[in-house]
Amino acid sequence: MGKYNFDRWIERAGTNCVKYDFAKEWGYSGEELSLWVADMDFETVPEITDALVERAKHGIYGYSMPKENYWDTVISFMEKEHNYKTKKEWYVNTPGVVFAIAMAIRALTKDGDSVLIQRPVYHPFTKMVEKNNRRLINSPLKEVKSQGSIHYEIDLADFEEKIRLHNVKLFILCNPHNPVGRVWTKDELIAMGDICRKYGVVVVSDEIHFDFIYPGFVHTCFASISKEFSDMTITCTSPTKTFNLAGLQVSNVIIENNELREKVNEEIKSNGYDEPNIFGMVACKAAYEFGKPWLEELNEYLLGNLNFVREFVKEHLPKVSLIEPEGTYLLWLDFRAYQLSKEELEEKIVKEAKLWLNSGSMFGEEGEGFERINIATPRAYLEKAMNQLKLLFLN
Ligand SMILES: Cc1ncc(COP(=O)(O)O)c(C=O)c1O
Repeated sequence: MGKYNFDRWIERAGTNCVKYDFAKEWGYSGEELSLWVADMDFETVPEITDALVERAKHGIYGYSMPKENYWDTVISFMEKEHNYKTKKEWYVNTPGVVFAIAMAIRALTKDGDSVLIQRPVYHPFTKMVEKNNRRLINSPLKEVKSQGSIHYEIDLADFEEKIRLHNVKLFILCNPHNPVGRVWTKDELIAMGDICRKYGVVVVSDEIHFDFIYPGFVHTCFASISKEFSDMTITCTSPTKTFNLAGLQVSNVIIENNELREKVNEEIKSNGYDEPNIFGMVACKAAYEFGKPWLEELNEYLLGNLNFVREFVKEHLPKVSLIEPEGTYLLWLDFRAYQLSKEELEEKIVKEAKLWLNSGSMFGEEGEGFERINIATPRAYLEKAMNQLKLLFLN
């Protein structure tokens, strides 16, 4: 038994959380078990809560900015945990990673320019490209059969061809990849990076899931690979996914290249954002200072949840295939053996199994027939959800 109790159920309904409080508004009955949006049902690190309470007690919440002690903590975390040596001057604060991606798109490309993504992928990438009137170019991940299941790889020939053909200006990399759970190897990153260098493509590397890596896999920050790569990269990091702080809206974006950083900063300012949220800064600092023991236990717990789902699927849902994740707490389940249309699958999952998951088609048509399930929840809740699935797909 560890120090932290991840089995404890804490009622979130009634806190205005998107995971439980908006079912009826969004077309669900409210009876479904909720395993969709990527936040966790676990209480954060106690030291983070203490730091927030302490700050709140001061009673004055005026404009604030991070100082040396904040950056020292972030820089030290990045070096110790991610082997990426950074400097204070390279950092840009934003209220979130999606916001940072939007700012990078607006600052570094023009209307009609091509931006490349790799579907199936986190759906706001598509939204940020399209809503900003850029041209969306997709180089889909390649499904490779391995030991009866599938594994995703990069189709490098297609990746290069799309970049060349469409004169791609910016590539949004998801590392680790949501929803397929790949933690890209250094070799894969180098292969993509070399192509981007060759064609002058700026890389926005979304590394928000980088603290959730399963044993046997290693995450590499794309920009840490070489000076050449860091010079063309916007690295998006945040403590919010790792420590369950999404509502506090804080992210630390690393841009080594002065010209790129100035352009992104200008864009952020021209959109009216300046000083970050005080509580986000307080939480980030406490997380990176005190959060490691909690994070280690959390990762063990998540591994237990993953092992539970893997065994459950094998035993009770033999026609469903779990895409073995290398990182993230999001599992990608393949239901294509049932040959259901996306509407039929959705109907079964929501109306019959009474589960609120993320339909795979949300991540692009490559995701049709899949469902994404968030396992960052107490085991008992996950077991209940898997049993509801089992009753439905018993055949
Ligand atoms: C890949 C990825 N990027 C970004 C985000 C959201 O980041 P933020 O809340 O900082 O905008 C998520 C959340 O699920 C994510 O999965």
